[in-house]
Amino acid sequence: MESYKSLKKHFHQSLNDVFSSREIDYFFFQILYKILKWQKIDYVLNQENFSDSEFLNFLNHAILELKLNRPIQHILGYVSFYDLEIKVNGDVLIPRPETEELVSIIVNDLSNANTLLDIGTGSGCIPLAVKYKFPHLNCIGTDVSIKAIKVAQENSARLGIDVDFIHQDVFASSFPLDSIDILVSNPPYIPKKELSSMSPNVVDYEPHSALFVPDNNPLMFYSIIAEMGTKILNKNGKIYFEIHEEYGDQIVNLLSDLNYSNVLLFQDLQGKNRIVTASI
Ligand SMILES: C[S@@+](CC[C@H](N)C(=O)[O-])C[C@H]1O[C@@H](n2cnc3c(N)ncnc32)[C@H](O)[C@@H]1O
Repeated sequence: MESYKSLKKHFHQSLNDVFSSREIDYFFFQILYKILKWQKIDYVLNQENFSDSEFLNFLNHAILELKLNRPIQHILGYVSFYDLEIKVNGDVLIPRPETEELVSIIVNDLSNANTLLDIGTGSGCIPLAVKYKFPHLNCIGTDVSIKAIKVAQENSARLGIDVDFIHQDVFASSFPLDSIDILVSNPPYIPKKELSSMSPNVVDYEPHSALFVPDNNPLMFYSIIAEMGTKILNKNGKIYFEIHEEYGDQIVNLLSDLNYSNVLLFQDLQGKNRIVTASI
């Protein structure tokens, strides 16, 4: 039998050749929360107690998986996103903090909207988070991946947040939805040439169809979605994009060329160009 304090030390010693001390602490407290629902203060108060066996087993399993570069969110089975526990697995992108910033901008902007459409919804994190804050809103998420749609539907059912998830390719010749007030997308936007410089815990575990675009057409999703917005957005409708930091100006120009107004480029908390919004 070992105390929580000595298990924390063991966890650090097992992983300190791969991760920073701060990252290891973060993983440890995430696991404590998953298994025991303990916050840091509970650890401080109980660290000398003998560990629960379920916690010990999960911790040892996590050490093996983390050494294989598996993302902590896959090990836990969920990610915390905008006050919600969103289930994730290898079929969907792990929702990122930048996307929470996108949701914040939408939520702060919302006034008279009735319908929100999220294209490339993945886990469903965006429409689920917005609908959670605005239960009256009719929210729809679409994705080309049937496996992603299944994860999004599971999230909707488990959280009790009613969002329609539809299997739909944005490049299909006809799109079955219109009369939209809020059109949002965090589409694939990383040029394939960046793959070799990316971390294995992304490249080996997240779906490439959610991440990458061809080097010779990195804005392909923005062009089609912005074009679609001119047809399906209601008067006073708005479009919200998460973007690659390198393409801010090009996406602003793309929207301006399609006669969108109030085209705005926002930086994320790291100061990188990350979000573009515009009105129809
Ligand atoms: C960057 S992920 C975003 C997922 C989620 N919205 C988020 O923010 O975490 C992009 C999503 O676009 C989807 N996607 C890729 N190609 C698509 C297409 N042709 N039509 C619709 N969705 C597509 C992927 O399956 C993936 O779920």
